[in-house]
Amino acid sequence: MNKNIEQIRRDVRERFERTAIDPAAERRFETGAASALRLGYAAADLGVLPRSTVDSFAGVGNPFSLGEPSAGESVLDLGCGSGVDCLIAARRVGASGRVIGLDMTRGQAEKAAWSARETGFAHVKILLAEAERIPLRGSTIDLAISNGVWNLCPDKPRVIGELWRVLSPGGRVQMADILLDDATTPEEVAKKGAWSD
Ligand SMILES: C[S@@+](CC[C@H](N)C(=O)[O-])C[C@H]1O[C@@H](n2cnc3c(N)ncnc32)[C@H](O)[C@@H]1O
Repeated sequence: MNKNIEQIRRDVRERFERTAIDPAAERRFETGAASALRLGYAAADLGVLPRSTVDSFAGVGNPFSLGEPSAGESVLDLGCGSGVDCLIAARRVGASGRVIGLDMTRGQAEKAAWSARETGFAHVKILLAEAERIPLRGSTIDLAISNGVWNLCPDKPRVIGELWRVLSPGGRVQMADILLDDATTPEEVAKKGAWSD
C-alpha cells in the first residue's frame, strides 16, 4: 500500500483517539449537541441518548435529512464515532432490524459500544474496522449512512466499492460530508494537517 495513504490513516486515527477522550479537542469543526441541533437533528432524538454520546457527536450534516430508516431494516453507519446516528437509526428500525456501526479508531468504537449498552439496544453491533475493508457479507445492508467520514478516507473509490458490495439490491446510501472547492490546490490536499490536525 502507498506509504502516504498508511500515514494519513495513522494520523486520522490518532486525531480521533484524542477526540474520543476529549471531544472539545476537535478544532476543525463544532461537536456536541449544539452542532447537532444546528444541523437539523430533533431535540427529542438527542434528548433520549446518553449525554456523553451526544457530547462526542462530530458529524458535519444529518444523513437522516435524506430519508429515515424503516422498521426491520438493516443499517450500516460507516465511521460511527460515538454512535449518535447508530442509536437514532436503532430506534427507527426497532428490535426487528439491526444497526452495525463501524469505526477504525478503537476509542470511538468503544464509546459507541458503550452507548449501545447504555441505551439497552441489543440490535446494535459495533465493529472495529476500516471503511476500506468492511467485514460484512455482500448484499446484506438496506441503508448505509455516513457522517463526516468519507473526506477522511484517503482511498475513496475503495470505500465506495465496499459500500456497493455490502448493499442489498435497491439499498440506499445517505452520506453527509465536506467537499473540497475548486480553489483547493493539490499541495494543500497533500498537507498532513489537512487530514489530521
Ligand atoms: C468526524 S468523525 C464523525 C463521527 C460520527 N460519524 C459522528 O457523526 O459523530 C469521523 C469518524 O470517522 C472515523 N474514520 C475515519 N476514517 C475511517 C476509515 N477509513 N474507516 C473507518 N472509520 C474511519 C474516525 O475514527 C472518526 O470516528
